[in-house]
Amino acid sequence: MPEVVILTGAGISAESGLETFRSEDGLWAQHRIEDVCTPEALSRNPALVHEFYNKRRAALAGVAPNAAHLALAEFAAEIPGDLLVITQNVDDLHERAGQTGLLHIHGELLSLKCSRCDHRQRFPGDSTPDIPCPDCGTGRLRPDIVFFGEMPCFMEQIQSALSDCSLFIAIGTSGNVYPAAGFAELARHYGAESWLVNLDPPENHRDFQRFFQGRAGEQVPEMLRALRQKLGTA
Ligand code: APR
Repeated sequence: MPEVVILTGAGISAESGLETFRSEDGLWAQHRIEDVCTPEALSRNPALVHEFYNKRRAALAGVAPNAAHLALAEFAAEIPGDLLVITQNVDDLHERAGQTGLLHIHGELLSLKCSRCDHRQRFPGDSTPDIPCPDCGTGRLRPDIVFFGEMPCFMEQIQSALSDCSLFIAIGTSGNVYPAAGFAELARHYGAESWLVNLDPPENHRDFQRFFQGRAGEQVPEMLRALRQKLGTA
């Protein structure tokens, strides 16, 4: 089971130029969650939902992984099998940085899934509401995103990793959305230490014993230096 579990949020991708959700001019200041990120929104106005995710795919095509993504991917290679990265982000920047041991808890921008069966496919192009499912033929393909009110992915695997790890680290997340916002408290309940890398103190900052405050591009390499010392791999 992984010794170290890392949770990343929009703050790590902000370093690459992608918008976060809850900053003053963030995605949830520009769009209503009820219009673009709920199952009801998809059935009420699918074109608006697809348009929102097509715009985010277009933004993603124009950016690259940053120093924080690259440092994490490099570190994973130093402790193979002992690092699990859980990302709330739906971009593919961790993958493009070469990250291994990665789980997308809120889905992925570059894939679509069927609204009725369990068909999924990679689809880096634009999506529209009327693409029939090639498997069941009755469903329509929708963004492979966990909407508010839907079940996050990989929860069993995540809970088991949190109960076993010795260190939990959160990077670039405001601690607003559960279950991810409760992972630090859960890991500490099982005896793990908890570290935080963030631009400013998030909602759940009291759940962390060590805080590397600042931009992820600077603080993730700093934090990894401390982690290598702690693991004796420096
Ligand atoms: N470096 C480090 N941290 C940063 C940076 C940066 N360059 N820029 C912003 N941050 C921090 C902010 O201070 C904030 O605490 O990243 C956090 C981003 O918070 P949110 O915008 O709320 O994003 P996130 O926590 O990932 O949202 C969680 O909410 O809407 C849902 O599904 C969506 O996965 C998302 C979830």
